[in-house]
Amino acid sequence: MIGIGIIGAGYWGPKHIRVFSELSQARVEMIADLDELRLLAIKSQYPSIRTTTDYRELLGSPSVDAVVIATPVSTHARIARDTILAGRHVLVEKPITSSSEEAEKLIGLAEARGTVLMVGHTFLYHPAVWALRKLVQSGELGEVYYVHSQRLNLGLFQRDINVVWDLAPHDVSILLHVLEMDPLAVSAHGYAYVQHGIEDVAYLHIGFPHRVRAEIHVSWLDPNKVRRITVVGSKKMAVYDDVETLEKIRIYDKGVVAPPRTASFGEFQLSYRYGDITIPHVPSLEPLRTECEHFAECILNGATPLSDGSQGLKVVQVLEAAQASLSAGGLMTALAGHDTAPHSSDLTPYGAPPTTPNGSIRTGAGSTAIVAQP
Ligand SMILES: NC(=O)c1ccc[n+]([C@@H]2O[C@H](COP(=O)([O-])OP(=O)(O)OC[C@H]3O[C@@H](n4cnc5c(N)ncnc54)[C@H](O)[C@@H]3O)[C@@H](O)[C@H]2O)c1
Repeated sequence: MIGIGIIGAGYWGPKHIRVFSELSQARVEMIADLDELRLLAIKSQYPSIRTTTDYRELLGSPSVDAVVIATPVSTHARIARDTILAGRHVLVEKPITSSSEEAEKLIGLAEARGTVLMVGHTFLYHPAVWALRKLVQSGELGEVYYVHSQRLNLGLFQRDINVVWDLAPHDVSILLHVLEMDPLAVSAHGYAYVQHGIEDVAYLHIGFPHRVRAEIHVSWLDPNKVRRITVVGSKKMAVYDDVETLEKIRIYDKGVVAPPRTASFGEFQLSYRYGDITIPHVPSLEPLRTECEHFAECILNGATPLSDGSQGLKVVQVLEAAQASLSAGGLMTALAGHDTAPHSSDLTPYGAPPTTPNGSIRTGAGSTAIVAQP
């Protein structure tokens, strides 16, 4: 039986309390939150769970073997470091940290101490995401052209991070998992309408190898709740709509076939294919429960989590590059490790050359170099 401590009992922490309380392999021992009122509310629902306003007391408790961190993003690095140094396994909510440097330090520390380090990228435990990944990886959709992802709602406004750091970790983690490719570069535009200096609407464009593109639109300021990912391939197209209760994935056997190069406009004729729409069965499992079970299994079996520290780091590198691009008015920003002037058509939207004043690509994710275009 794994003793669980949960730090942070705001909006998301109580969901971990509920799920871990239901697991046979785990027992929730202690909750820490700075807010006494939050702790009173938890105590009234779970009288046997101990509470504290000092998370170090939780880390010092011998009955706590593993810790969930569900506090604001800016606190993740410090609390996760203290947790690993206390010899406890850690499941830290997304994004793992607010910088790639902090994430790298945590990964090194967890390796040195032999503790499990997992990140709460909940959508990697969603059966619809597994189905989407299978469609892409099996080749059923053909060559992937582009992905379009929308995560829109009215609220929940955050005060310490913008909408990119709040919502885009979901889309980015899904993209990395489904495409099984590391992105090359990111450009981002964002707008702060409600809170000064904190973007509540943002558009990210991510360039992957083989000219695969992804567009992500995230917003706290939209009349409708939209959670939709469209993958357009050369053979078929798929739409994953997370707002749908039962039919989350639709596969469209639709496509366009271009003729071989023609001599004249008159000979140019595209042929369109309008086939069936298939709705595969997607099991109805709670992703957070699967995630928490996976954390427990990794602790018990010494396995590496699907969403381990390195996966969390990759997501943060994309967010960092997006943030650098936002600050630079949408400049195409190369990911660390791709700063050796990759082919321009892999990096730029729609194959156009980057629109920097000096024809250069700026690198993000912990790097400050400006690299020249080939
Ligand atoms: N995986 C998901 O789908 C998902 C969904 C929502 C939120 N989250 C993540 O969960 C985390 C928390 O988000 P939230 O919406 O619950 O935030 P929140 O502001 O509602 O709650 C955070 C809580 O942490 C407490 N806290 C802050 N500093 C603390 C400290 N030093 N010690 C103890 N408690 C402290 C606060 O008092 C508050 O109750 C964030 O990282 C967020 O990105 C993940």
